[in-house]
Amino acid sequence: MDKYIEKIEETRSFFEERLSSPPEAVVMLGTGLGGVSKALMGSTSFPYEEIPNFPVSTSPEHRGVLHIGEIHGHTVALFEGRFHFYEGYSTRELTLPLRVMALLGTKVLIASNAAGGLDLSYSPGDLMLIKDHINLIPDNPLRGPNVDSWGERFPDMSKAYSKRLRDLAKKVGKDLGIPIREGVFVAVPGPSLETPSETRFLRIIGADAVAMSLVPEVIVAVHAGMEVLGISVIANVNNPDAFEPIRIEDVIEGARRAEEALTRLVLEIFKRGILE
Ligand code: HPA
Repeated sequence: MDKYIEKIEETRSFFEERLSSPPEAVVMLGTGLGGVSKALMGSTSFPYEEIPNFPVSTSPEHRGVLHIGEIHGHTVALFEGRFHFYEGYSTRELTLPLRVMALLGTKVLIASNAAGGLDLSYSPGDLMLIKDHINLIPDNPLRGPNVDSWGERFPDMSKAYSKRLRDLAKKVGKDLGIPIREGVFVAVPGPSLETPSETRFLRIIGADAVAMSLVPEVIVAVHAGMEVLGISVIANVNNPDAFEPIRIEDVIEGARRAEEALTRLVLEIFKRGILE
């Protein structure tokens, strides 16, 4: 744990030496969702391999670049490419970038991912605001000694996903004509996809969408006192009674279908006041 704290401090110093002000918000994008990065103004890009202690992203369609720039006057750290438990990282390791941003003073996390729809009324390309989650990844980024200056030992998760930001996203969606769903997200370890019976199980326990990411970052964000907006892009829909193979190419294609809508939504949220 001491080694982890040392790494965090080293990475924090790296950014403090290079940034004039801390990012106000972090945006984390998933598979096929790189579009938002094109809207960043005056950005500086840091390939992950040039940042001390950053994991390296090995997933398809995850570039591995951190862009820091401005959206509607707000300094934003945009992670293009994230890390997953299935790549072999512990959730503590894979959330190092977010912990560093929180310690720099970042107040808001917007996290998106490509997910499989479990609610059969969903279609590929739909956007789902996450109102709550179920964590089935057999690890927790807060496991081990707690660093009290980072957050409390037993963080409350009853309001992990900000109602204020969800309401704002719904209003923006309405005004821009972008249909918005709202549901429960379940994180699974992967990398094998779900069987039809696992899909049925996930639906029965109350989930509307499934993927292999996002929850570890959200736990760290909540622990650090950040406000969180989670958005799952429905890339494919999994019907346990008429199960089709889930192909990664289809997932990427399904996520791309929503890229433009997600980009417009996120930019407008910044314009209307992402920060309280
Ligand atoms: N299952 C798990 N992870 C996913 C899926 C899915 O159907 N689609 C995108 N990520």
